[in-house]
Amino acid sequence: MNWFTKAITSTIGRKIVVAFTGLFLCLFLVVHLLGNLQLLANDGGKSFNLYAKFMTTSPIIQTISIGNFVFILLHIIQSTILTIKNRQARPVGYAIVENRSTWASRNMGFLGSFILLFLVGHLANFWWKMKFGEMPIIGIDGMQVKDLYFVVSEAFKDPLIVGLYVFSMVFIGLHLSHGFQSAFQTFGLHHVKYTPLIQFIGWVFCIVVPLGYAIIPVVMYLRAL
Ligand code: HEM
Repeated sequence: MNWFTKAITSTIGRKIVVAFTGLFLCLFLVVHLLGNLQLLANDGGKSFNLYAKFMTTSPIIQTISIGNFVFILLHIIQSTILTIKNRQARPVGYAIVENRSTWASRNMGFLGSFILLFLVGHLANFWWKMKFGEMPIIGIDGMQVKDLYFVVSEAFKDPLIVGLYVFSMVFIGLHLSHGFQSAFQTFGLHHVKYTPLIQFIGWVFCIVVPLGYAIIPVVMYLRAL
């Protein structure tokens, strides 16, 4: 085993990979949300479709997108191994749950698995269709553009899908409520001055971002009534 393999298969190495990829995915969540909020612009989907065309054709974005999928995989693999090793080291579980630990911190594996299920369905619904599926084509500013806005607005006419999205955002918020702060702890950022600030940003992040996502299907559903 060379030093690199040794480093990323050690417990601390795995934790660093989970923390680093997790923070990158937080950044992705912000960018993805800002892009998706264009679904709410009252322009018949023009700005969202132009944005989607750029996101799915720009070579730079395509490269970042591959990196994003690699990071998602690394995050899942390393956190799963850490969870299994943790369970093996402590098969019975603590008799008394430490007062300061939250429900989310004790159930990150469960929350992560749910998010993975959401992601598989989500990608099949939108991303796969955009990349490989049949899509209506419309003309915008003289360009032929795939009408992803139509696909998304059709999906969010179904109250079941809207409910599933809102429900999933609660799980994502809970996952973030522990994950965000925990990543900074892994990096050793423990300081009387900075820890409360990181915790505050973590709380704002885990509420505002999922709320932003949840609003989109709800508004689109209500608009289509
Ligand atoms: C209202 C909520 C959401 C809407 C309307 C939405 C919409 C979309 C659409 C239309 C695409 C395909 C076009 C593109 O690649 O940009 C997409 C891709 C994607 N979405 Fe979402 N999304 C939402 C929430 C989420 C959440 C919460 C996550 C993460 C947990 C997520 C993860 C992804 C990923 C990883 C991709 C593939 C991006 C890539 O090509 O690199 N989305 N989403």
